Amino acid sequence: MMKPKKLANKDFLSSLDLAPEEVIDILNLAQKFKNKDLNIEFKNKVLGLIFDKSSTRTRVSFQVAMSRLGGTTIDLDPTTSQIGRGEPIKDTARVLSRYCDVLAIRTFKQSNLEEYAKWSSKPVINALTDLEHPCQALADFMTIKEEFIDFSKVALTFIGDGNNVANSLILFGALLGVEVRIACPKGYEPNSLVIKKANEINKGTNLLKITNDPYAAVEGANVLYTDVWSSMGEENQKEEKDKEFSGFTVDSNLVSKASKDAIILHCLPAYRSKEITDEVIESAKSRVFEQAENRMHAQQALLTCLLS
Ligand code: CP
Ligand code: NVA
Repeated sequence: MMKPKKLANKDFLSSLDLAPEEVIDILNLAQKFKNKDLNIEFKNKVLGLIFDKSSTRTRVSFQVAMSRLGGTTIDLDPTTSQIGRGEPIKDTARVLSRYCDVLAIRTFKQSNLEEYAKWSSKPVINALTDLEHPCQALADFMTIKEEFIDFSKVALTFIGDGNNVANSLILFGALLGVEVRIACPKGYEPNSLVIKKANEINKGTNLLKITNDPYAAVEGANVLYTDVWSSMGEENQKEEKDKEFSGFTVDSNLVSKASKDAIILHCLPAYRSKEITDEVIESAKSRVFEQAENRMHAQQALLTCLLS
């Protein structure tokens, strides 16, 4: 039987907290959970969830993943706990890590997540920040692997805002040797440090390409990925961004320029007729619900590796 290995880092705050072999191990483990080939128990272990922003998939997939491992979850609502009152993170983190065995946190600044991890004696997982969404990327690459098997033959194009989802795709792409192309309007490029890190990992192989031309980016790509144009916390920029992102909708015309075998991904929730058309998200090429399901398997594998 496959024996899950403990991760070298205590926390999963960024995609770069995993070594490439660890990513592969988690993806293989996730597939085993999905195929029901593996039964691992963490009886009586408790996952604490903190969501400073809304969530459906991340919240429920973590809860179900933990219950499939025989553990339980406590979902802390900031408005009914002392978190919303502004209790210092260093106090909350020290208290919660005496009760829970692992914490998954969705918050705004990456530095707040890092503060939790600094003061928590137990592993802390990034359940989305303004900078990264690494749990999403785990499920994304699991979905890509199910479809194409060999990462070195895949070109992934992300069309839209150079946001948290794009940043994590870039970093995972670099770790796994996947060609990643980002097409975004001028001024909405991904984080510059993320680009620098990915280029360092890619070592001059030119695997990462950033362009403002969606059609050039999509040419022959195997995976077309998009996300909302305005992320949580950017509600006041919505009108302006809707204008700036005109021409970046993933529609059937854009899809027709991709490889014949191309699949469509979206982390969800989606705004149909903004970043993606209803026709494309409902098409036979769409894998968005497989991708959403894989959140649960990938996180079950991640929890296993962090708790082992
Ligand atoms: N994709 C994702 O993280 O969805 P939720 O915001 O519903 O968790
Ligand atoms: N970029 C989006 C992802 C939601 C899962 C956001 O941060 O709101």
